[in-house]
Parts: sequence; C-alpha cells; structure tokens
Amino acid sequence: MKIAVAKGDGIGPEIMDAVLKIFEANKVPLEYEFVDMGKWVFDKGFNNGMTPEAKLTIESLGLLFKGPMETPKGKGVKSINVTARKTWNTYANKRVFQSLHGVDTVFSKAGIPIDITVVRENIEDTYGGIEHMITHDVALSRRFITRPGSMQVIRYAFLMARQKNAKRITCGHKANIMKITDGLFLECFYEVAKEFPELKADDIIVDDLCMKLVTRPDTFDVVVLTNLQGDIVSDLCAGLVGGLGFAPSANIGDHISIFEAVHGTAPDIAGKNIANPTALLLSGISMLRHVGLTGNAGEIENALLYTLESGVHTGDFGDKTKPSVNTTQFAEAIISNFGKKPEVGAKEVIPNKPGTPTPFKLAQNSMMVSTETGNEDILGVDLFIESEEQPEAIAHKCQRHAGVKFKLVNISNRGTQVWPTGSVYTNLVNQYNVRFESLDDSPLNQQDIIGLYVSMSGNFKICSLELLNSWNGKKSYSLAQGQ
Ligand code: NAI
Repeated sequence: MKIAVAKGDGIGPEIMDAVLKIFEANKVPLEYEFVDMGKWVFDKGFNNGMTPEAKLTIESLGLLFKGPMETPKGKGVKSINVTARKTWNTYANKRVFQSLHGVDTVFSKAGIPIDITVVRENIEDTYGGIEHMITHDVALSRRFITRPGSMQVIRYAFLMARQKNAKRITCGHKANIMKITDGLFLECFYEVAKEFPELKADDIIVDDLCMKLVTRPDTFDVVVLTNLQGDIVSDLCAGLVGGLGFAPSANIGDHISIFEAVHGTAPDIAGKNIANPTALLLSGISMLRHVGLTGNAGEIENALLYTLESGVHTGDFGDKTKPSVNTTQFAEAIISNFGKKPEVGAKEVIPNKPGTPTPFKLAQNSMMVSTETGNEDILGVDLFIESEEQPEAIAHKCQRHAGVKFKLVNISNRGTQVWPTGSVYTNLVNQYNVRFESLDDSPLNQQDIIGLYVSMSGNFKICSLELLNSWNGKKSYSLAQGQ
C-alpha cells in the first residue's frame, strides 16, 4: 500500500523522519510517495501551498500523512492545512485525548483517567473564511452550517463511538444563542441518535462543556462539535493530557483522509532536533489502524507507552530532574522497546488485516442534498443598510419604500432592536438591519424583493440582503434581541 507523505515546515521534517524511522524498524508494510506541500511551496509561487503533482498524487492515493505546515503571514493566502481538509472533504476531524502513563498532569496525579475523543466538523462554520468589510466600520463573517454536512460528521461520530464501545456521546453547541445554525447541528445530532439506541446521547452548551471538562473530564467519552468550537475545545482537551505534544489528529473523508499532529510548526524549536514526535507518532498509529495495519499499530503504541512510562522524555514534558533526550534518541528508545508492554494501558496487538485500496476516480463533484424538502415561501427580506442616522429617521424613510407589498416590522443594529421600540442607551454602528415582511402575510417572490431593493437604493447604500424564508410554514430566521 502506498501513501502520500508531506514532511511539512519547522519541526515537521524532524518529527516525520523520527516517525518514519520507527515505522521502518517495525517493518510497516507501507510505501511512501513524498509530495511538495508547505511554506516553501507557497514561496515558489504556488498559491495553494502545493504543487499540481502533489494534488494529483494525494487524490490518486487517498491517504496523506503530513507534518505541520506554516501559512505565510500577510500574503493573502489561505492556510494550506485548512485548504487540504476542505478541498478533499475530510469532514470529520477526530482527536483522541488519553492519559498517558509517564506524562504527569494534574489529573494523572489525582488518579483521574482521561479518554476523550473529540470529533470536530471540519469543513463549515466560520472556517469557510467568507468575510467582508461591509461598511468602513463593520466586518461580517458568514457562518455556514448545513444539514448534509452536519449529518455526515455526526453520523461518523456515532459510528466511531459504536466501534470504540463508547457509552456516551455528547453534542457541544451554543444553540441557546445561535438558534438557527447551532440549532440545526443539534437537530441533526438527535436525528442520527435515533439510529444508535445503545449510546447515551446528550448535549451540553459549549461554555458549560469547557467548565465540566476541566472539573470532571472522566465523565466524557465522545464529544462532537461544530468547527470553531471543536477547535477550541480540542486544544483544551490537549491541555488536560499534557499539552500539544500528545494530541494526534485524523481528518477523515469518504475518499481521502489526512493524518497529522494537532500542533503547528513550533518555529521556536525548529532545526534543533528537540521536538517531541509523540503527537505525530500517535497520528501515524491511528493511520495504521485506519488502513488495517492493527498489528504494527499495537506493537508501536505499546513500545511508545512503555517508553513514556519508563520516564524517557523530550524537553517539553516529564521529570525535569532527569535529563531529556532529543527527537532522534526518543525514536531510538521506542525502537529499542518493541515487544515490551507498558504496565498501564497496554494495547491489544491484533494481526494486520490491510484493506485493499479501492481505486476511485470521481467524475464530478458530489452534490449533497437533504431529502427533507417542503413548501418554501418568501415571507420578507432583511436589508442591511449603511446609515449614520437615528432609527426613527431611518424608519420614516423606509416606510415610504414599503409600497403595497411590504410592511416595515423591525430595525436592529448589531442584532438589537432599535425600532419600533428600543433604548437610547443602545450604542449604534453605521450598519442597520431593516426587516420588511409581506403586508398581508401572503408569500412574496424575488421580483417583489428586487422592486423593494431598487426603491430603497434611492435612499440608502444596501450592503447585503437575506430573504426571510419559511419551509412548511415554519419561519426560518432569527428575531432581533428585544423583538
Ligand atoms: P505551535 O503548535 O507550532 O507551537 C506552540 C508551542 O508549542 C510552541 O512553544 C512550540 O514550541 C510548542 N510545541 C508544539 N509542538 C511541539 C512538539 N512537537 N514538541 C515540543 N514542543 C512543541 O503553534 P504556533 O506557534 O501558534 O504556530 C506556528 C505555525 O504552525 C504557524 O505558522 C501556524 O499557522 C502553523 N500551524 C500549523 C498547523 C498544522 O499544520 N496542522 C496547526 C497549528 C499551527
């Protein structure tokens, strides 16, 4: 079996060399095709951080093992890491956080074991990076949460939880505030939960989740979250088990998967051969299991756990009274411990059963459409306008444009209602949302909206608009604070 490997930037080549050396010593039956990705590829003028050959190789092999990569600052280019995950639709980011014997933390000292798997949605949310300045003072980020995208990652989380014999799966969210977006994610969670009656499915507001993770981490098992919240919560979990040096990550898709460490390129220690390769090694071990090389995975993991248990450590962790080893020596210590089992947390060595790679060549992009459709009506429109006038004056002008089809129902500023009621204590910025609804509640069409747009543009600069939709009679838009 052949996989694509990109060594990455900063400490990437050092830790990747250490991991591949361990794989080689363990006779892992994989061939590697090294591909060109990373900062130096950006510097050569490839704007997405990879060469066309690298893209072709990864798409034909379906598996990428990568070191951390740097995104050049201030050049208007997007992160290669995010681009890779999004382009190849690796929709589930699985991060396993386990207490490791020999890696002291406040929890290990208190005898509290941790074994949490965070599944983070990997494509959507604010990571779309769709951002605009819509007035000189106001920046807008569009946050997409989609039903098919949420179903895809949540189903993966449930299947994975079943496979690892988890007891509990928890959805972290902020649906109390983001009722439409996080509300949709949560709705999908409970929809999928019906197919897994053996798992205890529950949900928790993300701030409460953070508090409970640091007070009772042992009560959590699998946690699934949207992208940004998942990113933050998973770094929190990395802290619980000893830091970024111990946090592996798998980006799983239907056709292509990417395995990497959670940490970055660590420029402060790059080139010194002192980085801790554990996170990348754990990612590599999870990749071996993913392709059915469970025997190699078990042997290497046991040797790693034994090494940690015996007190061998790089400079970033462990007993500071004992001398640390460098990256190469750490890898050599693991190799010398092949065949040994740790006292705590030894893994079962299940013989390899490599999957046969199924060649795939997609002819076109997959369109993911939810089967849930229904009668769609347009009930109104939110026009986001630029103005420095007071709400009353804006309302006065808007009402003149409402005509025979629309009524002005609400004006808000930064999401807080300022008309028809409001408070003079609400500070304003130069961007308002004026909401028009159908005068007699009958559905509108796009021409009606354009008519209103043209009329309103005589008085205001319209920054953007959103239709007020309803499906099967259910209004699908948020109310302003105070509305
Ligand atoms: P970082 O994770 O590279 O470093 C944070 C701190 O952790 C540093 O003090 C570093 O020395 C330490 N550290 C990280 N990994 C370590 C290891 N294996 N052994 C010992 N110490 C380790 O985060 P930072 O500084 O925010 O990012 C540096 C660069 O990495 C940026 O260009 C960023 O864009 C990129 N990055 C890439 C990622 C990826 O490729 N998946 C993920 C995160 C950041």
